[in-house]
Amino acid sequence: MFSFFDQVSSTKNSSQKQNQKLSTTSDQVGILAFFEPSTRTRVSFEAAGSALGIRWIVLNPENLSLKKGESVKDTFQALALYRPDFLVIRHHLSGFCELAQKWTNLPIINAGDGFNEHPTQALLDAYTLWKKNPKKKYKIAFFGDVVRSRVARSDIYAFRALGYDLSIVDDGGLETKLFAKAFKVKLISRAKLKAQDVVFCLRVQKERGSQVQMPALMPNDLGKQTLVMHPGPVVAGEDLAYELCDFKAKNNLVHEQVENGFWVRKEILRNVLNLKKRGPKK
Ligand code: CP
Repeated sequence: MFSFFDQVSSTKNSSQKQNQKLSTTSDQVGILAFFEPSTRTRVSFEAAGSALGIRWIVLNPENLSLKKGESVKDTFQALALYRPDFLVIRHHLSGFCELAQKWTNLPIINAGDGFNEHPTQALLDAYTLWKKNPKKKYKIAFFGDVVRSRVARSDIYAFRALGYDLSIVDDGGLETKLFAKAFKVKLISRAKLKAQDVVFCLRVQKERGSQVQMPALMPNDLGKQTLVMHPGPVVAGEDLAYELCDFKAKNNLVHEQVENGFWVRKEILRNVLNLKKRGPKK
């Protein structure tokens, strides 16, 4: 993971220093297949890929022949026959990307599948913390709807790989207790948030049937130095109190996460596609 992070920093720094994008030419074609709403993930993949010279086919699920009753398997097998080089998929079913890989036999980047995983979000979250202090072993507490969060699952794997100390704020629910046990993460009380380096806030996943009712994270939940992270989208007043929704504030990393999404996904695409880095355009 560290050499990947070094690559991300190197591309980001050289691009900012020269005040222009490093260009890469590519004859690769990618399909963006988002069956759930997305702002950050879809647009950052599209922007990062375009900067690498990738040509995108952007699907709108509302206009696919799925609407006429075609099966999703037939749809993906048809897509593969147009010979794209890879697909980026978001879908509401957990495990969907694995199925799509079997149907198409093409490289698939998982942009979020049900409540299973969101691996590119985990990489950008881990990169954001590592970049701030590569040596620090952060104490991180997840706050909010952990049980239905694919971000929480992927972040637990990534943060654990970096040796961070993880906990979950106990909402008193049985599902949260079972989740904490299954993922071997300790439960803490809300009062213990003050002692954390980072509070990672999660949205209530109403679209996945969540009934979590925790009052929004408040400024007085936090210590003076506590960093606030959130993968977005933020529901102001519901996940984070309005006073914590200044995403440019000193201890707020939300905009850094969003911006790093571009650089991390650019490096993911470069790695997946094995694109060669070139110098700046003359
Ligand atoms: N964090 C995240 O996945 O945001 P989007 O739903 O806007 O892509």
